[in-house]
Parts: sequence; C-alpha cells; structure tokens
Amino acid sequence: MSRLDGRVAIVTGAGRGIGASLARIMAAEGCALVVNDLGVAVDGGGEDQSPAATVVDEIVSAGGTAVANYDDVADHASAEKLIQCAIDEFGRLDVVVNVAGILRDRMIFNMSEEEWDAVVRVHLKGTFNTSKFAAIYWRKAREGKYRLINFTSGSGLFGAPGQPNYAAAKLGIVGLTYSCANSLGPYGVTANAIAPGAATRMTATVPEGRRRMRPLSEEDPQRSPDNIAPPVVYLASTESDWLNGRVIGANGYRISLYNNPEVIREISSPEPWDMDRAFEHIESSFRPAIEGRRMGAPRPRTSGDEKRGGR
Ligand SMILES: NC(=O)c1ccc[n+]([C@@H]2O[C@H](COP(=O)([O-])OP(=O)(O)OC[C@H]3O[C@@H](n4cnc5c(N)ncnc54)[C@H](O)[C@@H]3O)[C@@H](O)[C@H]2O)c1
Repeated sequence: MSRLDGRVAIVTGAGRGIGASLARIMAAEGCALVVNDLGVAVDGGGEDQSPAATVVDEIVSAGGTAVANYDDVADHASAEKLIQCAIDEFGRLDVVVNVAGILRDRMIFNMSEEEWDAVVRVHLKGTFNTSKFAAIYWRKAREGKYRLINFTSGSGLFGAPGQPNYAAAKLGIVGLTYSCANSLGPYGVTANAIAPGAATRMTATVPEGRRRMRPLSEEDPQRSPDNIAPPVVYLASTESDWLNGRVIGANGYRISLYNNPEVIREISSPEPWDMDRAFEHIESSFRPAIEGRRMGAPRPRTSGDEKRGGR
C-alpha cells in the first residue's frame, strides 16, 4: 500500500522544477495526477505544452496515472477548467498543490507596473483561482480529507531586496493559506504552505550576490527538488488532519516548522496615549526585544533527527 493510494491531486507548474518532481513522486506513491503547466519561460513569456506532456509520459511509463493540463492558473476561467479536469478524468479531487510561478526581479525603484502585475497575477491570483474552485467543489462534496498545499518562499517570509513583487505575492499566499485554513475546516480541508529551497531554472536566474541562502553547490544532491517531496506527500496524505494553517520549510535534508506571527511585546494605556509616553514606552519595551534578537539571541538548535525552531 502506497501512501497516496486512491488520492487524486492537481499539481500546478508541474512541467518543470519542483512541481515536476512532486508530480513524479506523488504518482509513485499511488496518487492520480493532473500535471498542469502552461510551459512559460521564467519571466512568464511564451507557452509550451511539452514540459507537462513529458512529465505525464514519464509517470505513465513508470506505471503511474496522470493526465496533462495546459491551463493558465492565473486566468480565473481557466483555473475552473483545471479543477473540473481532475473531476472529469478521475471522478474526484483530494489535493491541490499550487506550485506554478514566475519571476521578474527588479529593485522597487526600477520596477514597472507590468513587472509587478505579472508576478502578483501568477503567484497570488493563480493560487486564489485554483483554491477558490477547489473549495467550491470540496464544500459540495464534503466526504473527504481534502488538502490545499500552497507554495510560499523565504523571499516573502524574510523579504528579498530585488524581488518586492515576488516577496509580496509569496507572503500574500501565506495570508490566503491562513484564511483557507480558518474557513474550510468544516468541509474537511486543511491548508498549509511550503517554503522550499532547491536548484531549479528559477534559482539559476538569481545572481550569486543576491541569493539569500547559498549553503550548497548546485550539484549537491541536497539541492535536488526531490527533497521537497516528503513534507508535501505527508500533507497530501490522509494522516495530516492535525496539521493546518502552518508554513513548513523544505530545503535540502531539512524540514522545518515555522512559527505563525505572534505578539512578542505589548504596551497598553488606560487612556489615549500621550505622544511623549508612547515614544518612551515604545523604545523601552520594543527596542530591547528587537535589538536583543539582532545581537544573537540563541538560534534554535537541532540535535539528531529532531529540529526545533528555524532561523
Ligand atoms: N526553487 C526554489 O528554491 C524556490 C524557492 C522558494 C520558492 N519557490 C517556489 O516554488 C515554486 C516552483 O519553483 P521552481 O523553482 O520549480 O520554478 P520553475 O521555473 O522550474 O517551475 C515553475 C513552473 O511553473 C509554470 N508556470 C508558470 N506560470 C504558470 C501559469 N500561469 N500557469 C501554469 N503554469 C505556470 C512554468 O511553466 C514552470 O514549469 C514556485 O512557486 C516558486 O516561487 C522555489
């Protein structure tokens, strides 16, 4: 018995990189797959059916079950067709993995409106589109263990100087994921986000000096996109009911659990804040909390197989 036997999933952006790897590994675990990919360049230009078709051929040759789909996830009506494709082909839909993405890197002062819109459209609107139509189906179907797995990025979680559009979209995806986690529980749906790190054509476009994390060479097996699959397969399985509204990091052989935003210091006043008092209390309360962390508050450590905390 494989871990995803009987499950039906859509993986978007599954013609290349992380998505292709996830599709192959999920299929090997018994999942029937819709392999979606528009086949665009890293900047979103052009269209090509061969990446999705090739991944489907590979899966089918290996004895798995998959069909190709070439819809643009960023187009509202096309995303509806993509969700319907799984239902038409396999009679149900259990898992949506939103991986599709593009880059148009630029410092904020140089970024054009078009560069902003293109990236936000594919990542944020694309994730909204598929999530919405899957949620409509899950709300009606009601009898499953449904999974929404969205792809965020360290660029969004921590900020990336040359990627304000991408960072905004990727952190927007976290807010969208939390909202789905909060609203879709009654219909059997969990929603979580993955923050991956792997060598793909996308990371190859980021100049050396601008890479946030560069601990491994491109040839190191830890950079393989296959390393993203274990937490994704776990989330896609029927065993992950308890895991909802979280961000999971997957980078090399490390799988991390991020904390969700929390208030770390709070000051309050019984009456409207006097400006002088506000200045004084904000500095005396918040500043040590921020500067203490910068000065090297202990980094959570790992031991053996168990890692607690993250960055
Ligand atoms: N590779 C990393 O280290 C890394 C780090 C952080 C986040 N991510 C995220 O992981 C995901 C996968 O990235 P990757 O590195 O595999 O990139 P990739 O460029 O190798 O693959 C992305 C795929 O998405 C497809 N795509 C783009 N726009 C689409 C659309 N509108 N509709 C359907 N398909 C579309 C492309 O054709 C491509 O095949 C992305 O969301 C990316 O932002 C990757």
